[in-house]
Formats: sequence, structure tokens, C-alpha cells
Amino acid sequence: MTALADTWGINAAQFWLRGQRPDREVGYDDATGMWEVHGYPEILRALSDPATFSSNTQRLVPEASGFSEGNLTQLDPPDHQKLRKLVSHAFTPKVVADLEPRIAVELMGQMQDRAELVADLAYPLPVIVIAELLGVPAGDRDKFKRWVDGMFNSTNKISIKDRSPEDEAYFASAMEQVGELANYLTEHVRERRAKPREDLLSKLVEAEVDGVRLTDAEITNFGMVLLVAGHITTTMLLGNTLLCLDAHPDQFAVVRADRSRVPAAIEESLRFLSPFAAVSRVTTEETELGGVRIPADQMLLLWIAAANRDPRQFADPNAFDVTRDPNPQLGFGRGIHFCLGAPLARLEGKVALNLLLDRFPQLRTDPDDAPEFLPSPNMTGVRRLPLLL
Ligand code: HEM
Repeated sequence: MTALADTWGINAAQFWLRGQRPDREVGYDDATGMWEVHGYPEILRALSDPATFSSNTQRLVPEASGFSEGNLTQLDPPDHQKLRKLVSHAFTPKVVADLEPRIAVELMGQMQDRAELVADLAYPLPVIVIAELLGVPAGDRDKFKRWVDGMFNSTNKISIKDRSPEDEAYFASAMEQVGELANYLTEHVRERRAKPREDLLSKLVEAEVDGVRLTDAEITNFGMVLLVAGHITTTMLLGNTLLCLDAHPDQFAVVRADRSRVPAAIEESLRFLSPFAAVSRVTTEETELGGVRIPADQMLLLWIAAANRDPRQFADPNAFDVTRDPNPQLGFGRGIHFCLGAPLARLEGKVALNLLLDRFPQLRTDPDDAPEFLPSPNMTGVRRLPLLL
């Protein structure tokens, strides 16, 4: 496994992908001013206690707080339940299931003998799906790519103290990208208020729970969460799953021989290479986690990707095993913030993988052209994956 993470050029900060465990499951990182949590039971506890481990991290990073209204990921109870209930009305299983034929059509693209999985499929597919769902033109996807790439381009760890001029410049440019995306979405929201259509933005404009409706800012920010959370992660999931299968031919053979194992292969890929490597929380009071005292108002990075390799939870955690059962992987988080898009991501993964295997039975990675991973330590996913078809 060590060899694989090195061959793939994965950011060295993700030491768990090299089969290593941290010295301690919970520890303070003096360099970033944050607490780092790597263990499965410790992370599970933090995710199940939102009163102590708040999601409202923007109060420690006030520069980002302009986009907190309607940002589900930043809300705590009781506001979180209210908004989640409202948006769940618009984001139903039927809305997701209805996208299946659309996903299949996208896959009939122009892949011939060679392909670069990310550019040809794994990137455009989720963007087209999420754009279709929201109701914004998929043709604007080059703009989304520019804005979103600008948000995740740094190879550095995020720090809440002593930001270098380089970090400041990166942060400012990331916020500029967020601002452009927000302006773009707000225009669409205003259009839907004036003239509703059959799309998620219109449903959000019309959604009402207990007489309460969403404001323009809430819809814009929620749309932004969907667009950002809903596409690069799924791009990574598709690329990572193929890469894992290709690197483990015995496992690939199991899946090829029995397609009912595709969903399990996707779950195992989420565990083995978790796209969203870390989620953050802030302590609201002094507390204890994994035997360590943590004061109030501290920022925590919960490395779900590392918890997914915790030997206390997973037997032989560094083995990629599509028959792992049960597989309580934390790739979509856990608790009240459990990924709203998980059914969509699982559906996209399943449809895409099945169609690829149907259409290209000889599919394998190009031995002469290595995959590339995203540089951010907070993400685990390919951004380039050359294939021979
Ligand atoms: C939340 C991962 C796809 C929308 C989350 C969280 C994780 C996650 C770890 C929890 C964040 C936290 O606890 O702070 C992923 C991964 C995906 C994926 C790995 C793909 C493989 C999607 C898609 C959408 C989506 C396709 C929407 C179209 C959301 C939303 C939340 C969320 C709205 C916030 C839920 C809440 O705070 O209540 N996701 N996600 N995600 N995800 Fe996903």
C-alpha cells in the first residue's frame, strides 16, 4: 500500500494512506492552531454531539461568514433541522432517480481507444447532473470549473493562525471565486422568483415549512454548497473507484464477474480513498475527546479518511476488499450532517461504473501515463486518470 500511495503521488500529509497511524488519535497541531482527530470512535463521538462540536466554524474564520446564511454545512440545531427539512422537500429520492437516464446519455460520449477519465467523464458527468438538477445551463461548466478549482488549489494545510502572505493571497483569491459563483447563482434565483420552472432552484424558491420560506441569500448559498460539494467529490469518487479496481486485479475480477457488487465496490472506494478527507467542527465548551481535554472555541479537523483506516474499526484496513461487510465507512460523514447528496453520488457511481464496464470490457489504466491526484491535503482524489479502453 505504501508503494501505491507513493506511486500515485498522494500528498504526504495523508500518512494513513501509507499504512501509518498517528502517534495519538487526538492532538493539537501547533503549526495550524487546530486539533487533529484521526480515530474512528473519536470522530464518531464528535459527529454525534453537535451541541459540543459545532459546525459553525465560520465564527472562527469571520472572513468567510458572508456566505453562511443557508449554508447547511455550517448550521447547528435547531436551525439546521429547519433548513434540512426545507431543502429535503426539493431534493427527494424521486428527483434523484429521475436523473438516471440523463446520466446514461452523458456516458454515451466520445470515448474511443483512449480516454482521460476525469476530463472525458468523471468531471463533466456530475457537473452536468448537478447543473441539470439546479436548473442552470450545463454549458456554463467551464465557469464552475474555474471558480471551484480556485477554491481548492492550495497544497498547504489550512491554518487559523499566523497565516503567511501566501496563505492570505490564496484565501483572498478563493473568496473572490466564491463571490463570483454567488453572483451567478443569485441572478438565477431572482429569475426563478419572477418565473418559476421545473428545477431545484424553483422548488427551493417555492419550498415552505411552517409558513417559512427561504431568502435569496439562503438559496444562493445552498446552491453553492450543492454545486461545490456535489461535483468534485463525485468526480473523485468515480476516478478513485476505477483506480482502486485497476490496482487490485483480483477485486476487479470479482466485480466484473458479479455486477451486483458494484455498490459495495463504491463503498469500499469511499473508505479506501475518501474524497472528502476531513470535516471541521468547533468546540462550544471545554470537553474531552479520546482522553484529551480540549478547551472551548477550538477548531477541530476530523480526518474521516484516516478514521476509515482505523484498525480498531476495520479488520485489515489497508486492504481494498470489495467483499467487506459490514462497511461502516465515514466517507459521507455521519449524524445530522450526513451527506444529503449520498444517494445521488452512489447512483452516479453505480450507473457510470456499470456502463463503463459494459462498454469497455478491457478497460485499464495507462501504464505509461501515471494518474495525478488533487494537491490539497483535505481532498483525496484523482484529477487526471489516463485509461486504455
Ligand atoms: C455533506 C461527502 C456528494 C451535498 C457531506 C459531508 C460529507 C460529504 C463528508 C458531511 C460534512 C460535515 O459533516 O461537515 C461527500 C462525498 C460525495 C458527496 C464523498 C461524493 C462521493 C454530494 C453530492 C451532493 C452533496 C452529489 C449534492 C448534490 C451535500 C450537502 C451536505 C453534504 C448539501 C450538507 C448536509 C448537512 O450539512 O446537513 N458530504 N458528498 N454531496 N453533502 Fe456531500
